[in-house]
Amino acid sequence: MAKALIIYATRTNQTKTIAEVVGEGIRLEGAEATVVSVGDFEKQKLNPEDYQALVLGSATYHGEMIQTMKTLLFALEKFNLEGKVGGSFGAFGWSGEAPGRIYDTMKNIYKMDMVSGPLTLKSASLGGGVKMSQDYGRDIAKKASK
Ligand SMILES: Cc1cc2nc3c(=O)[nH]c(=O)nc-3n(C[C@H](O)[C@H](O)[C@H](O)COP(=O)(O)O)c2cc1C
Repeated sequence: MAKALIIYATRTNQTKTIAEVVGEGIRLEGAEATVVSVGDFEKQKLNPEDYQALVLGSATYHGEMIQTMKTLLFALEKFNLEGKVGGSFGAFGWSGEAPGRIYDTMKNIYKMDMVSGPLTLKSASLGGGVKMSQDYGRDIAKKASK
């Protein structure tokens, strides 16, 4: 069974909720999903190499991703992520730069096999956000199960 690791950075939990719904979508497609904050990823010493897919999320503040996600993107240099399925997501208010920046790093630096694009939502619960987040998870699971 394909396994996906979802790691998120949030301040007011909107991005955490998106992470959880993306995880649901992955499970609906019959794959396994582990959803953790950046802090818990570090505490639990999880190894992204143990997963077929890695999905990273951060909210946007002042045009940027949250600092813990920035630090994580450097820390991931010690793992070989090439060819793993990747995706990115995050809650935003008006400009939403973070998911795109994360996506580009996963694609260009870590040479991951990315899904169609970043998932950028005002909220997991508004304007079809639940379905979009679930569908994003489903796409990741399908790609990782191939
Ligand atoms: C001080 C502050 C700065 C923000 N800066 C941005 C920004 O530059 N661009 C944007 O799209 N949203 C911005 N937002 C909105 C947040 O991204 C939005 O509230 C989001 O839902 C927060 O997600 P979180 O609950 O996962 O932290 C800002 C919010 C605050 C409080």
